[in-house]
Amino acid sequence: MSSRGLEGVVVAESRLSKIYGEQGRLLYSGYEIEDLAEHTTFEEVCHLLWYGELPNRRRLDDLRAQMARDRVVHPDLIRMLRMLPSGTHPMAALRTSASALASYDAEAEDMSHEANLRKATRITAKLPTLTAALDRLRKGKEPIEPREDLSHAANFLYMLHGQEPDELEARIIDTALILHAEHGMNASTFAARVTVATLSDMHSAVTSAIGTLKGPLHGGANERVMHMLQEIGEPETVERWIRDALDRKERIMGFGHRVYRALDPRAPILKKLAEELAARGGNTKWLEISERIQGVMAEEMERRGKRIYPNVDFFSASVYYTLGIPMDLFTNIFACARAAGWTAHIMEQYQDNRLIRPKAEYVGPEGLKVRPIDARS
Ligand code: COA
Repeated sequence: MSSRGLEGVVVAESRLSKIYGEQGRLLYSGYEIEDLAEHTTFEEVCHLLWYGELPNRRRLDDLRAQMARDRVVHPDLIRMLRMLPSGTHPMAALRTSASALASYDAEAEDMSHEANLRKATRITAKLPTLTAALDRLRKGKEPIEPREDLSHAANFLYMLHGQEPDELEARIIDTALILHAEHGMNASTFAARVTVATLSDMHSAVTSAIGTLKGPLHGGANERVMHMLQEIGEPETVERWIRDALDRKERIMGFGHRVYRALDPRAPILKKLAEELAARGGNTKWLEISERIQGVMAEEMERRGKRIYPNVDFFSASVYYTLGIPMDLFTNIFACARAAGWTAHIMEQYQDNRLIRPKAEYVGPEGLKVRPIDARS
């Protein structure tokens, strides 16, 4: 019996996160996601995932300082980004960059736990620098050097826009990073674990993970949510647009989840931030459209007897867009956040490793004989 999509199959034990799909609850190493989003920063969550506990003040200061120092990337990587054709998708450019980072990391092939912890910090610190640089380069602008005095989130926006974000903007990105940092055995995390289960290295695993996150059924959905909001265009159009799409059996991006059969707990946190942002900036259109979609989907799914609710991508799209982040960069932000979870899973896999090697059920023919090439039809 094959298990399509490995649904329900347990492939590892993990101390990193627990998802209660029926109740819509998410915990990172014992802490509720709502608690972490409200009371910690992304750097604290990195510490929690990598070291198994929240840091005290001194350890947080050390990790923040280390991540800030590690933000700088080798000039060769910027040169490499310049060489990529201008139409390269930002996730493809990030995937290539993650792979190239290994060549500039003296510990790339050192598999000790200590070296892996340092690499986790470096990779997580550098992905936002690469993301901001690749966006500026494709717009014909020069990359901006990271600043050590800003938080991970604030520095990312600074490198992207060339100006320091205000407190709300930095907090929104920081919260989005926390919400996307970890999520059990999702497809990209599984890809990372499969890679290192062969005793390959951390950079290879992160490269696999970025390639896996790129797909529209996983990280790529947030970009497609924004395309949908734009296509709908106005709040008044929502109802007809959604009902027509459902009648055509199309999937509404930003809805549904393999694990949650209730509201994704990250969605309301992002919705609240979207409301704060809209209230401040005066542009409420995307939020209004999103809320109407949520309403129509609730009715339609109830009518059709399906438990499909908004997921984390649904509100992150309009939040990022309102912050001036280009749509095709949304998944890169997801990758920058998930780097924390990927690297934590990679270290967990190394610590109790077994080659991951499922089977396929062969359904092709047997007994064929090779005919000379000129005799084949
Ligand atoms: N819009 C409309 N209907 C949806 C839907 C969506 N976003 N997601 C699932 N459904 C429907 C399916 O069509 C299916 O209907 P059917 O039983 O009549 O065929 C039913 O709900 C169950 O879907 P299933 O394919 O079993 O769900 P899954 O667990 O394989 O899919 C996702 C999970 C995330 C891939 C899926 O919900 C999806 O494609 N969502 C949109 C993309 C997205 O937002 N991804 C980000 C995930 S964080």
